[in-house]
Amino acid sequence: MFPTLFSPIDLGPTRVRNRIVSTGHDTVMAHDGHVTDRLVAYHAARAKGGVGLIIVQVSGVHETARYTAHMLMATEDAAIPGYARLATAVHAHGARIMGQLFHPGREIMETDDGTAPVAWAPSAVPNSRFRVMPMPLTQAMIDEIVAGYASSARRLQQAGFDGCEIVASHGYLPAQFLNPAVNRRDDAYGGSLENRLRFTLQVAQAIRAAVGPDFTVGLRISGEERDTEALEPAETIAACRMLDPHVDFFHVIAGNSATLSGAIHIVPPMFYEAGYTAPFGAQVTRAVSKPVIVTGRINQPQVAESILASGQAAMCGMTRALICDPDMPTKAQTAPDDIRACIGCNQACIGHFHRGYPISCIQFPETGRELTLAARKTPTTSPRRILIAGGGPAGLKAAAVLAERGHRVTLHEAAAQLGGQALLAQLLPGRAEFGGIITNLAHEARRAGATIRLNSPVTRALVEAEAPDAVIIATGARPHWPEIATEGAHVVDAWAVLRGTANPGGRVVVADWRGDWIGMGLAEKLARDGCAVRLHVEGIAAGESLPFYVRDEMVARLHRLGVTIHPYSRLFGADAGTVYFTHSASGDPVLAEETDTLVLAQGHDSDRKLADDLAGWPGAVHVIGDALTPRSAEEAVLEALGLGVTM
Ligand SMILES: Cc1cc2nc3c(=O)[nH]c(=O)nc-3n(C[C@H](O)[C@H](O)[C@H](O)COP(=O)(O)O)c2cc1C
Ligand code: SF4
Repeated sequence: MFPTLFSPIDLGPTRVRNRIVSTGHDTVMAHDGHVTDRLVAYHAARAKGGVGLIIVQVSGVHETARYTAHMLMATEDAAIPGYARLATAVHAHGARIMGQLFHPGREIMETDDGTAPVAWAPSAVPNSRFRVMPMPLTQAMIDEIVAGYASSARRLQQAGFDGCEIVASHGYLPAQFLNPAVNRRDDAYGGSLENRLRFTLQVAQAIRAAVGPDFTVGLRISGEERDTEALEPAETIAACRMLDPHVDFFHVIAGNSATLSGAIHIVPPMFYEAGYTAPFGAQVTRAVSKPVIVTGRINQPQVAESILASGQAAMCGMTRALICDPDMPTKAQTAPDDIRACIGCNQACIGHFHRGYPISCIQFPETGRELTLAARKTPTTSPRRILIAGGGPAGLKAAAVLAERGHRVTLHEAAAQLGGQALLAQLLPGRAEFGGIITNLAHEARRAGATIRLNSPVTRALVEAEAPDAVIIATGARPHWPEIATEGAHVVDAWAVLRGTANPGGRVVVADWRGDWIGMGLAEKLARDGCAVRLHVEGIAAGESLPFYVRDEMVARLHRLGVTIHPYSRLFGADAGTVYFTHSASGDPVLAEETDTLVLAQGHDSDRKLADDLAGWPGAVHVIGDALTPRSAEEAVLEALGLGVTM
């Protein structure tokens, strides 16, 4: 099975056991610039699961490289023991480990004290996304940074790492030098391609001089930056050719941190097809003599195998695939059907990163919690009979964890199909893959031995007849209808639109309270169905609650469809033809006139009927997920794990 994927490969002096790479990704698990036990446990879990190569998240090479408040720094020898613990833990499981050497130039998101940064860049050209105006580098500054790359590489080598990757991708400092729209210099670093590549070349040469021939040195580069001021792909290819003698591998991805449209590709959401960057990987593969890694939504071994077998690349980055299922490589060889495929929702991985929290996965909250919740998933010494009401994400995860621990679990779902709200979420445009969460969790519950009964609503009578030791209520939620006057208006809720039981036609106003997928997705669906759509959001912007790259992709899609977005709109009421809002900052009235239909995306109310009916029942009753209080699938699944390890 997957013969190319599981064949070894040499990256310069480093032999890697297979072609699967966990590419550099900031975990928000570093502390004070150093490796933590949590980070070691996180990567050890993936090494144990069979990955070939782990490229650890970016390490700053200079004080001015701090682009977030929670990154690793390789600028001092004091960092070496932490890196060494990481290397030992990863090597113990037969995987290889390399580090990313990083300077962001002007791409600075935040400082650690909330003040605006002093960013160093080739020229004083402002960054669009973070609104940073950098100061131009002098020769002395350039020399200092180049020396920083070299000494940082040497520290990784001293720690026992197998190699390093120069991050020249995503519009970071080396790419800023390369891009003539950003590099306006008229010295030896500006103008011709040769001059613009000088910095990266000096970095590669300084690193090699510092580490010698026995340490792998690679280069990460954006094949396509995907924005209007992007580096031309032809120049990228030419640059790769010129760098070929100086590095051991290339790593091709897409995107550019500098703009909203380019940044979407840093962690492409489910709107992009699996392996969409492979064609550019193929162009680089043809242009250079060194192995090429390609990364971008490769979430299953079948996809990776076909990219490798067709010669488009030599290795595949499968980063979120491994965040979601650290055992994916081992399962690919023994039980591929058991792989929990990443669905590209971006919610708990990059979504957490952008909010400054350690990364995890909505489908597998054990990720990032290797030392806490995951460590407590041990066999029970007192198996009990557990009845679960509700087959959405919360109920299914509880069933999987409890059955795996040895409890006797029966899950009852009132509907004919498992899934709860995920069944509706997958009907939103471009979000069909969200249904994968149910396929995966249902498979895990069944595999662990849970019994699943469909068309089986749970009542007090059923609980009394079954007499389980404990009941878990995961009955979810229903659409929330605010208490407002809507006389004469045509009002429908989000669920009815998605189920096709409403008739929204004509001029539609979507009133969006949560600022997430539902309001935006409905607006897109209705616009595609031919309605003229206005999206009124209660917050300051559309998609305020969404992971950034999902938000921006959805805003782009709405813009292309002509949907107008109206922020600061708090729903007040509706009548025939008009929807009334109050401006959520000024309190002034805002009118949406000439409206045929008001679509409510106003959140949910918990379904607590069973909890109320079971009042006084002598057994243990636990309420989790939206039945406890409405949130998202992430909290539902996490809560199920949290309960599952305590019973
Ligand atoms: C949480 C998170 C943090 C990331 N941080 C980095 C980073 O520090 N350096 C980098 O070059 N790429 C970073 N990336 C991008 C990944 O290396 C990778 O290119 C991206 O996840 C797409 O690959 P995938 O579809 O296999 O997940 C990050 C990705 C995620 C999910
Ligand atoms: S949170 Fe979503 S995108 Fe991130 S790893 Fe999990 S399934 Fe994939």
